[in-house]
This record gives sequence, C-alpha cells and structure tokens, in this order.
Amino acid sequence: MMTYQNILLNIHEHVLTITINRPDKLNALNRKTIQEIGDAVQRAEKDAAIDGIIITGSGPKSFVAGADISEFLNCTKAEGKEMSAEGHKVFRSIETCNKPVVAAVNGFALGGGCELAMSCHIRIASANAKFGQPEVNLGLIPGYGGTQRLVQLIGKGKALELLMTADMINAEEAHRLGLVNMVTTPEELLSEADKFIKKVKRVSPVAIRGIVRSVNAYFDKDIDGLAFEVDAFGECFGTEDFTEGVNAFLEKRKPEFVRT
Ligand code: COA
Repeated sequence: MMTYQNILLNIHEHVLTITINRPDKLNALNRKTIQEIGDAVQRAEKDAAIDGIIITGSGPKSFVAGADISEFLNCTKAEGKEMSAEGHKVFRSIETCNKPVVAAVNGFALGGGCELAMSCHIRIASANAKFGQPEVNLGLIPGYGGTQRLVQLIGKGKALELLMTADMINAEEAHRLGLVNMVTTPEELLSEADKFIKKVKRVSPVAIRGIVRSVNAYFDKDIDGLAFEVDAFGECFGTEDFTEGVNAFLEKRKPEFVRT
C-alpha cells in the first residue's frame, strides 16, 4: 500500500476528504502528490463504504497553486511529456470516477490547481478563491487538461482569453463564467461540499455511474454521445437499483438504494 506524504485523508459519514497538504508550498502538485491523489481516488472508488470524495487544500490561502515549478527545472521534452501523461491519467480517473467528486476550492487554484478542480465533477469555491492558468508566464501551456476542460466549462472565447493572458479571476467571476457551481464562505466550504455528496447519495449509484459515463462521452470525439446514452439507458433496466426505484415510486415510499 502506498504511504502518503503529501495528502491527508479523513472519512466522515462515508465521505472521504482528501486534503493536499503542502501548505508551505501553497499545496503545489509535485509528482508524488499527484500519484497519491490518484491512489486515494482509486481506492475510494472501489470502497463500498465511501459515497463520495471531497478534494481540498491545506491552510486558508491555497487550494493548489499549480504544478510544482521546482520539478520543471532541467526537464527534457520527453520528461515533460511523461509528466503531463502521468497527470492526465490521474485527472482522468477523477473525471470518470463513478462516485461524486467535489473540489472544495479554498484559495488559489492556479495552473494544475485549476486543472485539478476542473477534473472534479463539481466545484464549490470559497469567496477568497482565485482561478487562473498562468503557465504562459513560464513559457508553457497547461499540461493537465487545462486547454480542454476550460473550453468545455466556459467556452472557447473566454478560455482563450484566460489561457493567453494568465489573468487571475475571483470566485464571483468564476461562478459567472460557469467555472464553479457555487460560491460560499470559507467556513461553510466543506459542509457545502459534504451536502452535495449527501444529496447524490439519495439517488441510485447505478444511475450516477451512467450519468458520469454518458456526460463524459459527450466530449469523447470517438464516441457518438447519443448512441452511448441509448446503451447506457438500456443498461439500467434489470438492475436492482431500477427495480427498487420504480417499485418505491409505485408504492409511494422513498427508495433505498444499496451502496456499491
Ligand atoms: N510550485 C512550486 N512552489 C510554489 C508554487 C508552485 N506552483 N506556488 C507557490 N510556491 C511556493 C513559493 O515558491 C514559496 O516557497 P518559498 O517560501 O520556499 O519561497 C511558497 O510557495 C509561498 O509562495 P509565495 O509566492 O511566497 O506566496 P505569495 O502569496 O506571495 O504568492 C502566488 C502566491 C500563488 C501568486 C505565487 O506563489 C505564484 O505565482 N505561484 C505560482 C503560480 C503558477 O505559476 N502556477 C502554475 C504552475 S504551472
């Protein structure tokens, strides 16, 4: 089992909180931290006792201030590519996780931090959060999905503006653009994230899996999203969740879905 040096895990009422814990470096993502996040998410996905995951940063100032710039020094083109591919793998595993993953953005979400938040299903920001993709200042482009997911979330025009200027935007602006789902106070950030997971817990886990897969299919150029939905819809029939959901409705009671 991997030992974690840079993240803290806490499980409360079936919700796993992953706290990125390098506050003296504003929680910058070095390679080890990304591996640890990937490992923790993978384990939680398989753990029937976990309903959902919150990802946040340690300290009041920063969610994640980007990839760890000190690891870039002396990197070759091949090493840069490898670093990006490793990050992509982990961030994709978050995006495709079959349980809800919420980014609780408690401060700077820059570069890899903004990309990490964008790979989560939902983003809740505290009022002091700041978002941006400042890689162009370093002679780089985003390497953990930023050029793709920012376009998906806020559209090409605004994404190009943020990516080309390295401008930082505050939580309200991020909300206005659709980059975050909700803005709250720093004090209520984690409880709002928890509330979202508790809300999703009431519905069918089988259906949640289908929703995540089908919505991601929309962005997969090799997949016909509507055809994918037809299959995913059909797959729901005959499942225990489907039987329970439909019977509960007909019997005028609340459904009780089994955690998976
Ligand atoms: N990688 C490595 N270290 C980082 C980092 C990053 N992305 N972001 C911050 N740090 C480190 C700083 O080097 C500093 O370490 P030190 O105390 O050992 O010198 C520490 O975190 C605190 O950062 P500091 O810059 O002193 O804080 P600040 O409040 O003055 O500024 C930021 C905050 C976020 C504006 C600034 O740290 C910054 O611009 N960070 C880089 C953002 C970035 O370009 N991210 C994309 C990377 S691809």
